[in-house]
Amino acid sequence: MSKIASHITIAMDGPAGSGKSTVARRIAEKLGMLYLDSGAMYRAVTLLALENGVEEDITKLIDLVKQCIIEFDDNGKKIFLDSVDVSEEIRTPEVNKLVADIAKIPEIRHEIVKHQQRIGAKGNIIAEGRDLTTIVFPDADYKFYLDASIRERAKRRYADLQEQNVKTTIDAVEAEIAARDEKDTSREHSPLQIADDAIRVDTTGKTIDEVIDIIVGHINT
Ligand code: C5P
Repeated sequence: MSKIASHITIAMDGPAGSGKSTVARRIAEKLGMLYLDSGAMYRAVTLLALENGVEEDITKLIDLVKQCIIEFDDNGKKIFLDSVDVSEEIRTPEVNKLVADIAKIPEIRHEIVKHQQRIGAKGNIIAEGRDLTTIVFPDADYKFYLDASIRERAKRRYADLQEQNVKTTIDAVEAEIAARDEKDTSREHSPLQIADDAIRVDTTGKTIDEVIDIIVGHINT
């Protein structure tokens, strides 16, 4: 384990609901690493667009993104946009619906990726999202691609939403993540794809602990 808590970088990608946030967060705690939730940053920028009514005005939005300050606290559990805790606001259905359209804008990705690379420069980080293994940290020491059946991913997201008292159905959640998957995998810049050197982990039917054991097992070898 001592080797683990040094300077290594672990990058993890996968579609919505594949379990990567929970797994990455728990591994970060277990191994004393920094956790980076890259999706939260695209969500914060989407919230910025909605709050300023500039979701259609890309030039204005890019300007705002260049000026805004995105910070994490509590080892990645909380996210602040210009010093305001927006950890809950970035998970609303409005943000879910718009985020993939905002995240496909190359200038926005450029700003966010620079920020992520600065955060990860010292290593000792586990970072997850859609382009961490391919674009953000192409030289990561370990790369994983997490996946699960769409039904299982929808059920997991539905359970999260129920905890937040959001009224919806599993079918509606499945339709929303299928639409987001389609946008994330087919966009021109930095689409979600499986890096050649990534280890694939199918999390369907597996508990969080089982997935963590598989991943940590690879890191130890
Ligand atoms: O991981 P999460 O589901 O919170 O990500 C929200 C959205 O942010 C994704 O559907 C995707 O459009 C975008 N995203 C991205 N690149 C990343 C992480 C997230 O484009 N590295």
